[in-house]
Formats: sequence, structure tokens, C-alpha cells
Amino acid sequence: MERAHNPFAPGAGTPPPELAGRGDILEQAGVALERIKNGRPEKSLLMVGLRGVGKTVLLNEIQRLAIEKGYKTAFIEATENRSKKKLPELLLPHLRQILLQLDAGEMFNTYVKRAMRVLQSFISKFHVQTDLFTVKIADPEIGVADSGDLEVDLAQLFTAVAEAAANRKTGIAIIIDELQYLDETELSALIIAIHHISQKGLPLIMVGAGLPQLVGKAGNSKSYAERLFTYPDVGQLKPEDARQALQKPVQHQGVEFTADALKEIINLTKGYPYFLQEWGYHAWNTAAVSPITLADVQKATVIALKKLDDDFFRVRFDRLTPSEKRYVRALAELGNNPQRSGDIAEKLGLSVNTVAPLRSQLIKKGMIYSPAHGDTAFTVPLFEEFLKRAMPDIAALKG
Ligand SMILES: Nc1ncnc2c1ncn2[C@@H]1O[C@H](COP(=O)(O)OP(=O)(O)OP(=O)(O)O)[C@@H](O)[C@H]1O
Ligand SMILES: [Mg+2]
Repeated sequence: MERAHNPFAPGAGTPPPELAGRGDILEQAGVALERIKNGRPEKSLLMVGLRGVGKTVLLNEIQRLAIEKGYKTAFIEATENRSKKKLPELLLPHLRQILLQLDAGEMFNTYVKRAMRVLQSFISKFHVQTDLFTVKIADPEIGVADSGDLEVDLAQLFTAVAEAAANRKTGIAIIIDELQYLDETELSALIIAIHHISQKGLPLIMVGAGLPQLVGKAGNSKSYAERLFTYPDVGQLKPEDARQALQKPVQHQGVEFTADALKEIINLTKGYPYFLQEWGYHAWNTAAVSPITLADVQKATVIALKKLDDDFFRVRFDRLTPSEKRYVRALAELGNNPQRSGDIAEKLGLSVNTVAPLRSQLIKKGMIYSPAHGDTAFTVPLFEEFLKRAMPDIAALKG
């Protein structure tokens, strides 16, 4: 059918034509935003899920909700390449802009002015190298947020900004994607800052998203993290929601999937949102007329798999060293559920100790995670099947 009218949207963070199955999480976020803005205690949200399940899409939607509720928002994304931007550099342009907006709304508000000075102190210490910060926004507030210890200074900065927001009857939402890429000190500084804010009932909420290893990282960093955050699990869609995700967008254009076409896509994709978009997209392009049939889907599957193999899976695979590739291939060989480290080592003909550094390296790269102590699983859905296609020869594993 007409490609120009294809409703499906495979891509990173691309809003889906139908945001299916996320009503509970969005409702939880809505309640948290409402409560925190009114100074009521509520946990901040850290959404956890594998690659391509729709975390970024949810963060965007929550940002929209927050703005609708009168929040000032900062949306940042931590990057894997840590030589790029550190947390202060990611946050500062947004906080600066928020304070300038709060300042513009009222001629002279002592809390806003103070927050600007605190921000200036923070900048002076964390030496942000951008043109933006050669322009001063205020004289520094000497002795606040300028100790050079991020864990102390970030809490003081957030407190000052949140006090300014409270005074201006608004809230601040700090939204952070790819949280698992922050280093220990940064994550721990954020947790401490949120701890201070929540004790004071100030209107600042953090909404974050990341890969599953985030939960352990936050817990290691501060044992009270679990009392500050809820970790909504963002996973594959239930069959009913997956059907909605496919059927509703085409129905808007007077097109239908047949029941067995839907069933086939749901079987193949296991309800993973990114894959649903990919299959929906190619099924639409393949079908000549409505309804989109099982035969159309079967043809589309060949194209969708090729597309995934060439992009989605391939880019991740290409980032691995040869020995990391062998490790993940051994994991794939064992099956599509979590596997014991010992079993993986055995497949490779090596000792657990020898492969331990490989495993940590792969966790750092966000390829695998540990769903339970000693277990290992892929963060990318259906990756094991790709690996079997990409590395058919398992004789090469040992060596
Ligand atoms: N609830 C949903 N229903 C249908 N499609 C969805 C849903 N959520 C996300 N998608 C689609 O899934 C794809 C991936 O979404 P997104 O980029 O938000 O995932 P992610 O979890 O952030 O992935 P990554 O970990 O790689 O950053 C997009 O094409 C998006 O349109
Ligand atoms: Mg994302």
C-alpha cells in the first residue's frame, strides 16, 4: 500500500502511532507529578527495560505531561562515551534556562535570584567548558554548591532551584535517559540530591530510564535508593496491547490486519515494541490492499529480519571485540533465557575467572545484564537468534 501513508514508526525514540499498553505507567507518573508539585511525598520514577521497549518514548510523554501540569522540565541523555559530557555539563544549560524563565516571570524574587547565584557557584567549581557559561548569570553564592564534591554540591544546587520553583508555584522535572551510563559518583550525587529534596517536600521530581543494570547500580551506590524510587518495568506488550499497537494505526486509514496476520507478528516479535513497529511497517508496504494477510506478513518478515540484521543488531554486534563476540555467541547457544556464568565459560572451554572480565566489559557496553546473581542475559531482545545467523559456526567458539 501507499508508502507515504505508512503509519508505523520504527526508530529510536520515535513516537509510535499508538502508545499501547503503557496506561499504568503513565497514570503512575501523572499522580507522582501532581503530588510532588504540591509538596506531597512521592517516589521518583526510574523506568527499567531492555533496548527498544519504549523507554525514551515514555520519557517524552512524561515530559509532555509535566509541561501540561505547569512544570519546568530538563531532558538530558547520558552518553556511553564518558569522555564527552559529564553530568554537570548536561544539566547546567537546562537549569540555567529554567532559572532565567522563572526570573523573567517576576521582577525580583529572592529565591530565584539566590538559585541563580548558587548555579553560578556550581559552575565556577565544575568548570563547564561551553561558550554559554562565559556569560555570568549572577555573582556566585560563596560557600554554597562550590565545595567541589559533586555529592554535596548537586544536592545544594537542586535544593536552591527547587526552592525557587516552589516560590514561583511551579515544579521542576529532571528527566534523564540512559541513566545506566552515569558513573558511580554521578548516580550517587543524584540519589543524594533527590533524598534531600524529598525530605524537604520540595517540588522537584526525577524521572529516569535505563537498562536493567541500573537497579543494582543505584542500590550499590546508596542503600536507601529503593525507598526514593519506584522502578516501573517497561517490557514487551501483552498480546492484547500488541494487537492494539498494530491494528489501531491502520484502522485510522480504513485498513485492517486479519486475525492470523496479527497472530503471526505477535508470535515473531514477542510483543517487543520496536519490532512491532518494524513488522507493521514492512507488512503495510508489502500488502497490495486491505486486509493485510498472513501471506503479506510472511513476505514482510524476510524484509524485516534483514533490516534488523543489517541495522539494529549489526550496530551492536560491530561494537564487540572478537572475544566478546565469542562470549555472546556461547550465551546464545545456551538458549533464550538467563544462563549461569559457569555454563557460558564451559561452552567456551575456559574458566569462570578467565571470562569474568569479558562479562563485565559486556555489561558496561550495555549488551548483557545480570537479572539475578550469577545469571547473564541479553539486553537486546531476540539477539540470540541474530547471533546464530551472524556466527553460524560454533566450532570456532573454543579458540
Ligand atoms: N507502547 C508502545 N506501543 C507501540 N510501539 C511503541 C511503544 N513504545 C515504543 N514503541 C516504538 O518502539 C520503538 C522504540 O522505542 P524507544 O526508542 O522509546 O525504546 P527505548 O526503550 O528507549 O530503546 P533504547 O533502549 O534502544 O533507547 C519506537 O519505534 C517506538 O515508536
Ligand atoms: Mg531510548
